[in-house]
Amino acid sequence: MTENRSTDPTSLSIGVVGLGLMGCSIATCLLMAGHPVVAIAPIESDLLHAEKRVREHLSKSQQEGLTQKSPESFLQRLIITTDYSALSPCTLVIECTLEDLAIKKSVYGKIEAAISGEALLTSNTSAIPISVLQKQTRHPNRFFGLHWAEPSHTTRFLEIICGELSDVEGGEYLYELSHRWGKEPTLVRKDIRGFITNRLMYAMYREAFYLVENGYATVEDVDRACRNNAGYWMTLVGVFRWMDLTGVPAYHAVMKDLFPTLNHSTAVPKLIDDIVKAGGKGVANAHGFHSYTPEEAKLWEETFKEFSYEIRKLALKYPADVVKKKLG
Ligand SMILES: NC(=O)c1ccc[n+]([C@@H]2O[C@H](COP(=O)([O-])OP(=O)(O)OC[C@H]3O[C@@H](n4cnc5c(N)ncnc54)[C@H](O)[C@@H]3O)[C@@H](O)[C@H]2O)c1
Repeated sequence: MTENRSTDPTSLSIGVVGLGLMGCSIATCLLMAGHPVVAIAPIESDLLHAEKRVREHLSKSQQEGLTQKSPESFLQRLIITTDYSALSPCTLVIECTLEDLAIKKSVYGKIEAAISGEALLTSNTSAIPISVLQKQTRHPNRFFGLHWAEPSHTTRFLEIICGELSDVEGGEYLYELSHRWGKEPTLVRKDIRGFITNRLMYAMYREAFYLVENGYATVEDVDRACRNNAGYWMTLVGVFRWMDLTGVPAYHAVMKDLFPTLNHSTAVPKLIDDIVKAGGKGVANAHGFHSYTPEEAKLWEETFKEFSYEIRKLALKYPADVVKKKLG
C-alpha cells in the first residue's frame, strides 16, 4: 500500500468532516502543509463559524511566523460545504465529529458513498476504540485512528492508531505523511482503549480527583503542582527519559510503596459528575472546576492560544533527536 501512495501534499486532497474546535484547526494544519482541503459541515451551524475560525488561525500563524504566506493564498485551496460528494477527489478523510458512536457511524456511511475504495478513512476520536469504529465501515482495513491535539496547527502531537482489522502499511504511510504536517507522530500498532496519551493522562486525572475529593489538596494546589513539576520538563522529555535523567533507582524504590496507595477506582468522580450534570463545560461557559467571570473565561481561552504558539517555538528548538543533532 505504502509504495503506491504519494506523500506530496500539493497533490493530495484531504477531507475533514466535522468543523468544530478540532476540525477547524486540523484543516488549518493541512492547508499550511500544502494540501487542498475539502471541509464538510455535517450540521449547518458549522457554516456560521468554520471559515472565520480557519482564517483566524491562518492569520495568527502568519503573524507568529509559522508561515510566510497570506491566509488568502491558503483559503483558495479550501472548500467548505455540506455536500459530501465534494469528498470524491480525497485520498484521505479525517472524521472529526462529536464523540458519539451513532453520529460517527452515520457520517461514515455518507463519506464512504463519496470516496474511492482506495482512500483512507480516519477518526480523531479521543477514546472510542478504533476496532469498534472500523466495524461501522465498509472497508475496515483502510480505517485508522488519527488522534490530534488542539490546536492542531501548532502542536507536534499525533497518534496514528491501527485497529484489529487495519492494514498496518496504511498506518505506516500515515506516519510518513504526517511528518509533512510538522508532526512528531507515534504509531500505535495494536489498538488499546485511550491509545497512549489518554491512558497516561486519565491515570493522572483519576489521581487528581482522588486528592481533591479526599481533602489532601485543593483544585488550585493540584493544578499548581502539575504546572511546576511535569509542566516544566514534559516539552523536552517523556516519562522514561525523565527517569533516566533523574536517576532510575529512586523510581524503583518509590514504586513498591507508592503504587498500592494510588487510586484504582473505576467510578466517574463525583466532582466532575456534579459539574457536568449542572451544565458546566469549563471555560466555554465559564463553569468548570475553577470559578470564572465570563471575562476571565474568555481571557483564559485567548491566553491558551497565545501560549500554544510560544511553546511551539520552544519545542521546535528541542526535537526528539536534539542530542543526536547536537552531536552532528
Ligand atoms: N477537543 C479536543 O481537545 C479533542 C482532542 C482530541 C480529540 N478530540 C475528538 O475530536 C472530535 C471532535 O471534537 P471537537 O472538540 O472538535 O468537538 P466540537 O464539539 O467542537 O465539534 C463537534 C462537531 O461535530 C459535528 N456534529 C455535531 N453534531 C453532529 C451530528 N448530529 N451529526 C454529524 N456531525 C455532528 C459538527 O461538525 C460539530 O462542529 C471528538 O471525537 C473528540 O473526542 C477532541
